[in-house]
Amino acid sequence: MKIEIPKSKASRLVNAGGVILVTSSYKDKNNIITLAWHTPISRDPALLGIAIAKSHLSYELIKKSEEFIINIPSIDILKQVVFCGSISGNKIDKFKESKLTAEKAAQLIKTPIIKECIGHIECSLRDIKDIGDHGLFIGEAVYASAEEGLFDETWQINKTKLIFHLGGDLFTTNTEKINIPKY
Ligand SMILES: Cc1cc2nc3c(=O)[nH]c(=O)nc-3n(C[C@H](O)[C@H](O)[C@H](O)COP(=O)(O)O)c2cc1C
Repeated sequence: MKIEIPKSKASRLVNAGGVILVTSSYKDKNNIITLAWHTPISRDPALLGIAIAKSHLSYELIKKSEEFIINIPSIDILKQVVFCGSISGNKIDKFKESKLTAEKAAQLIKTPIIKECIGHIECSLRDIKDIGDHGLFIGEAVYASAEEGLFDETWQINKTKLIFHLGGDLFTTNTEKINIPKY
């Protein structure tokens, strides 16, 4: 037997994807937003999509600067991840308040990476699709990096724990690696 899930909660059936922190910057304003809605959409060119609500400051900053960085947090900074997803950068300086460190990116001009994150994808904005109450920002990866020892073809999940969002206030993390060769 299957139970009906309200349409407003349908996204939670597919959610459980890794949580990311997206940094943006325009003029003197640096910002961080927590996102659960994101996906790779093309291998060559390497394109990634992130969905940002139109009301968020990050929407404006990325639209104006035409660049953004996907930072991958580990479970060690879960509290800061929730903080950056709870309050708008319109009201505070999230780098200062969360005690996360802004570091110069390898390729992008203005937007900083978050030093405490274990991976980074620097993206140049290719397009914004107006979709419902969110904008789908399509970024082309211009540079990607990961903490040495934690990434070898894939995340080494015996060495680090990623954050997955179940919805609302609930999160989970990885437990075991399962290797099943393709048929
Ligand atoms: C775990 C988690 C996941 C979130 N995922 C998204 C998302 O995918 N898209 C979005 O627009 N907001 C998402 N949010 C909400 C924003 O992070 C939040 O509203 C943030 O304060 C907006 O920041 P800004 O106004 O500084 O850009 C999420 C929040 C949390 C805690």
